[in-house]
Amino acid sequence: MTYRLAFTAALLLAAPAMAQTLDDRHLPVLPRTPAEAARIARVLAPPTDFSAPEKFEAKPGGAATTRAIATADAFSQSSENMPFGREMDFKLGNGLFRKTWVAAPSSTKASDGLGPFYNARACQDCHIKDGRGHTPEGADEPRVSIFLRLSVPGGDPVPAIADYIATSPEPTYGGQLQDFAAPGLTPEGRMGIDWREEPVTLADGAVVSLRHPTYRFEAPANGPLAPDIQLSPRVAPQMIGLGLLEAIPAADILAHADPEDADGDGISGRPNIVMSAEYGVPMLGRFGHKAGAPTIKEQSAGAFAGDMGLSTPLHPDPWGDCTAAQTVCREAPHGQEPGIRDGLEVDAQSLDLVTFYSRNLAVPERRGLDDPQILRGKEIFHQAQCAACHVPKFVTNRLKNQPEQSFQLIWPFTDLLLHDMGEGLADNRPEGRATGREWRTAPLWGIGLTEQVSGHSQFLHDGRARSVLEAILWHGGEAGAARDTVVNLPTGDREALIAYLESL
Ligand code: HEC
Ligand code: HEC
Repeated sequence: MTYRLAFTAALLLAAPAMAQTLDDRHLPVLPRTPAEAARIARVLAPPTDFSAPEKFEAKPGGAATTRAIATADAFSQSSENMPFGREMDFKLGNGLFRKTWVAAPSSTKASDGLGPFYNARACQDCHIKDGRGHTPEGADEPRVSIFLRLSVPGGDPVPAIADYIATSPEPTYGGQLQDFAAPGLTPEGRMGIDWREEPVTLADGAVVSLRHPTYRFEAPANGPLAPDIQLSPRVAPQMIGLGLLEAIPAADILAHADPEDADGDGISGRPNIVMSAEYGVPMLGRFGHKAGAPTIKEQSAGAFAGDMGLSTPLHPDPWGDCTAAQTVCREAPHGQEPGIRDGLEVDAQSLDLVTFYSRNLAVPERRGLDDPQILRGKEIFHQAQCAACHVPKFVTNRLKNQPEQSFQLIWPFTDLLLHDMGEGLADNRPEGRATGREWRTAPLWGIGLTEQVSGHSQFLHDGRARSVLEAILWHGGEAGAARDTVVNLPTGDREALIAYLESL
């Protein structure tokens, strides 16, 4: 990666086709003046003094940052700078996020249409307390906040996207394994997980056990699986700060990309680029563990369809992820009726409200950031090159009519780019331009409140890590050198690094 800020020129040289199309058309952007751009470049410079916190570091979400309340509701607060007049929309959106959908036909006309196949009945069954999901606790615990994406190699090329890796949904089971079905239908099958423990010894003699998962599609109900099926486990991520991530200028994200590792630091970083269902053009992918969705609205519409089998204006089929081969599912009752909810299961207004809610879940403020141990941990974070991918700071676009996200200095600790994380984390299932070894850098803001909100401290795309340290030890590929630095740290410095992460 590079800290180059002359991004437009560099980008035009590197990838002319990309520069034309990867804009922020999803946002009401007011362009920056040259004077603003210069000021932003100064504000975003990496820190050189670790003896005191940086200015504004306490507020990772800028003026949208909320107080860090000491309960499990810490991720459920609205943007602090949200005008009073928008609170009703946030509450209505929250209602839809928590709403438990039921299968059709039902007497509750406003809430039916679930399935026929589904993974959960409400957004918040997966994004529990607006935080992250978890791995199943026992062999029999239902798989709810984690699921398997499915595909087979090959399919239609997308000529508009350079280096696009074509895949197709599994021909019978579609893009996702749904573990649940409406009454009278048999679920598609079941996600199986086996664990294997592997001890890792650190330089100071401490031993950490990493649990290696193996995933299976068990008990397929509609016939055999394609022999070349690809499985990708996904645990639901935390929901805070998403509107701010959505408001980072695409050009500023692309400025960190270094696909050929021109600066020779061993860290490349590539943008995912995906065809937008809403705008019909290639857009920068930002959301999901492989940055497969360009906007919160598309990710949410995808969740309604894929996770709950509910139609929206972006995915109007009422049967969600059922394939043409799953005739029983396609012919089962659905929740669409002319004149009700725009003839869809989830109308445009409801999708907009859920999107507004998801955009405005606030990032809590930092804790203890002037503690000497935490400041030492910050220094190690920078020395170990964690900041090369977990980019600390951005300034969001200036936006018309979107005051909560407009022109904020934010500290998300992600570049939103894809990185090869090595064989250990590979799912071997491409998505868009992301290879089977690449993942989007996870944002680290709020990570220290995970235990408080979720009652567990599971990390990474499938929740395999049981602590922040385990998560770091899983880093490989481009992040292998950063991991080795942590393995070789003196005990006190390792503890300082973890204390710093816990303060985010
Ligand atoms: C069955 C579990 C499940 C349900 C139900 C669910 N999600 Fe998600 N959600 C996920 C997973 C898993 C991901 C990561 C997806 C990926 O990697 O492609 C995700 C990602 C997201 C993201 C992007 C977060 C990020 O950091 O990139 C948003 C926004 C989101 N979901 C919103 C919603 C909304 C709104 C609903 C309800 C309409 C919903 N989700 C329902 C599991 C779920
Ligand atoms: C080459 C880029 C890169 C570097 C360098 C890097 N990371 Fe990461 N980090 C990632 C990616 C990508 C993920 C998501 C991986 C996944 O979900 O499987 C991640 C995930 C994490 C997570 C888990 C977050 C969550 O919400 O689950 C933590 C904690 C973390 N990194 C800390 C660090 C620390 C500390 C360092 C420095 C020692 C570091 N990372 C260096 C790319 C990087």
